Amino acid sequence: MNAPATPAAADLASVADRFLRPGTLQLGAPPPLSVYVHLPWCLKKCPYCDFNSHELRGPGGAGVPAPEARYLDALRADLESSLPLVWGRSVQTVFIGGGTPSLFAPESIERLLSDIRSLLPLAPGAEVTLEANPGTFERERFRAYRGAGVTRLSIGVQSFSDDKLRALGRVHDRAQALAAVEEAAQAFDTFNLDLMYALPGQTAAELDEDLATALAFAPPHLSLYHLTLEPNTAFARRPPVLPDEDTSAEMLDRLVELTAAAGLQRYEVSAYARPGHRCAHNLNYWQFGDYLGLGAGAHGKLSFPHRVLRTVKWREPARYMDEALAGRAASQQDEVGRQALAFEFMLNALRLRDGFELALFTDRTGLPPSAIAAPLEQALARGLLARDDGGPAGPRVRPTARGFDFLSDLQALFL
Ligand SMILES: C[S@@+](CC[C@H](N)C(=O)[O-])C[C@H]1O[C@@H](n2cnc3c(N)ncnc32)[C@H](O)[C@@H]1O
Ligand code: SF4
Repeated sequence: MNAPATPAAADLASVADRFLRPGTLQLGAPPPLSVYVHLPWCLKKCPYCDFNSHELRGPGGAGVPAPEARYLDALRADLESSLPLVWGRSVQTVFIGGGTPSLFAPESIERLLSDIRSLLPLAPGAEVTLEANPGTFERERFRAYRGAGVTRLSIGVQSFSDDKLRALGRVHDRAQALAAVEEAAQAFDTFNLDLMYALPGQTAAELDEDLATALAFAPPHLSLYHLTLEPNTAFARRPPVLPDEDTSAEMLDRLVELTAAAGLQRYEVSAYARPGHRCAHNLNYWQFGDYLGLGAGAHGKLSFPHRVLRTVKWREPARYMDEALAGRAASQQDEVGRQALAFEFMLNALRLRDGFELALFTDRTGLPPSAIAAPLEQALARGLLARDDGGPAGPRVRPTARGFDFLSDLQALFL
């Protein structure tokens, strides 16, 4: 068992000097704090993926195991040097994402969670999610993750069609996807499936089939993403033939209809859940809560009474490990400017079907309501937002159906 660490008095004093100084923003009580941990390796880079993920290849191109022990040492060092920034706060949710976290052994995930717990208080009942890819684990591994302290599994299924999985360059096939979901459903009370739609050559009937297969498992949560061509990916260099805009809009309508009929509510642009199974970690992002980002390329957002700080960790895994082990995991730490703060809040909060209480804007950004009054009026006048004055915590605004359909236009009003 690790001894609980206390940051050195000098480190706490330095944080106080830099970040607790007076300023023009007036934030409310500190928002809920989450921890995001990035595990950056994959068996193979998918042609559509622009995440900070790296193929595990040794000299000569052969697959090699991830350097788990050294990376865990680096994560612990990263956390230790971040402690002064979050001192005295407890963690509501943990999300271990990637890359492919399920390449790490359950013992490694156990060590990671025990390191986090020994350094920061984890709230009782905290949600702890791990991303897992089909085809990267042997049987019984999911149960072992659960034993390690993971409470929620998020499986990157993408599609149940062998044909589409091949087109997406995935390392798994339909049988492995089915096996992964079956095992997740047995081992976890709550889990998520990631599916993508508007895939190369996909027809409406094929999408229906994918979704029906997913729904047959009665998943508590689904994340349904429109496949996008991201710059600097193999797909951007050699684009596959994708369904046109009208077809993909029809596909989305169909997804919303079929998920609703199965009891899953679309509570965010891409997230659908049964009652009681929304993802607390992602909700904290969308409600502009705080998160500490640990690991290669991880981003963080941390609030102080008069400022909001953005942090970024070294992106390349080898460099990250070297720097983190030397106590310098962060490659960037910047205060968010007033205008960026208002826009970032809106960019996140407008993704939520239920919108947000206007008081939350001031609470989380430290800005007065007047900072968004003009674009808010414009959005209401154009029918992109609706206002509800009767809520217990004061007025709320939510995107209308039209606002949700034209979300980027709505968000752009707040730029
Ligand atoms: C952080 S990623 C990685 C999860 C896991 N490594 C995997 O690929 O199964 C989370 C999800 O983002 C989605 N995603 C990744 N790239 C995408 C793209 N270009 N367009 C749409 N969705 C994407 C996929 O559904 C993926 O499961
Ligand atoms: S497995 Fe996931 S993170 Fe890794 S390359 Fe593929 S999409 Fe990206």
